[in-house]
Amino acid sequence: MSQAAIGLPPATGPEALRAENIVKRFGAVTALNGVSLYLKPGEMLGILGDNGAGKSTLIKILTGFQSPTSGTMTVDGKQVALKSVDHARALGIECVYQDLALIPGLSIYHNMFLNREPLRPWPFRLLDNKSMRRRAVEALEDIGVNIPSVDEEVAMLSGGQRQAVAIARAVYSNARILLLDEPLAAMGARESGLILDLIDRLKKRGDLSLIMIAHNYAQTLEVCDRVMLFQHGEVTFQAKSAETSVPELLEVVKRNYKIVRGA
Ligand SMILES: Nc1ncnc2c1ncn2[C@@H]1O[C@H](COP(=O)(O)OP(=O)(O)OP(=O)(O)O)[C@@H](O)[C@H]1O
Ligand SMILES: [Mg+2]
Repeated sequence: MSQAAIGLPPATGPEALRAENIVKRFGAVTALNGVSLYLKPGEMLGILGDNGAGKSTLIKILTGFQSPTSGTMTVDGKQVALKSVDHARALGIECVYQDLALIPGLSIYHNMFLNREPLRPWPFRLLDNKSMRRRAVEALEDIGVNIPSVDEEVAMLSGGQRQAVAIARAVYSNARILLLDEPLAAMGARESGLILDLIDRLKKRGDLSLIMIAHNYAQTLEVCDRVMLFQHGEVTFQAKSAETSVPELLEVVKRNYKIVRGA
C-alpha cells in the first residue's frame, strides 16, 4: 500500500471528517508529509506520537487555524477549504488546544464565553453577566463538571479543572466534531481519571465525533475506538483499539516501520 494511503480506508458509509494527503511545511521544516485520516460519526480516534511528530499541526489545520501547504479535506462528505477558525466552527468543528487558551485572571464563566459573549439587548450594549453566569453553570452541569463556583478565577483551578472548563466551553458551542490536543497533559492519575470520565460521558451522548491527541498509550487504547501513530510527520500505524496493544504500538515506534491494518 502506498504511503499516502495509510490512514485512509475505502469509503464506507458516512464520515464526519476526512483529510487526504495533508502536507504542511514551515520553511525548511516539513511538519506533515502527506497525512490522511477519516473520522466516522460518533467515533473517537486517538492520535499518538512523539514530540514534534506533527500532531498539533494537523489539529490546527483541521480547525482552520492554519492552512495546509497542500491536501484536501471533507466535512460531512463535502469538500471544504477552511478559511478560518470561525469557518470551522460554523461547520461544527471545535478544538481544545494544547495551551487551552483560557485567561487565568478572568472568572470561569467569563472564560466560558470568551469571544462569544452574549450582549444585553439594545440600548444596553453591555456584557450580559447574569445570563453568561447562568448559562455557564448549566453548561458545566450538563456535562457533569463539578466546579465549586463559576465566579472563581481560572487561575485558582487545577490543571484538570481548567481542562474541564475548556472542554465544556467547546461542547457548549454546539460542537459536532471535537478535537482535543493532549487533554491529559501534565495531569496526575486522579485528574486524568476525571477528564477521561468526562470524555467518556461526551462519547456516550453519541452526537459527537472526537479526535484526542495523547501520549499515554494504555489510556488512549482504553478510551478511543481507533488509534493512529504519527512519526516524523507521517502516519505509520492505525488500528482499531480492540485489535492492537501497548506492546505492539511500542514495537512500531521502536522499529520505525509502517503497518496498515484494515480499521
Ligand atoms: N509555526 C511553526 N513554525 C515553524 N515550525 C513549526 C511551527 N509549528 C510547528 N512547527 C514544527 O513542526 C513540527 C511538528 O510540530 P507539532 O507541534 O505539530 O508537533 P506535536 O506532534 O504536536 O508535538 P508535541 O507532542 O510536542 O506537542 C515540529 O518540528 C515543530 O517545530
Ligand atoms: Mg502538540
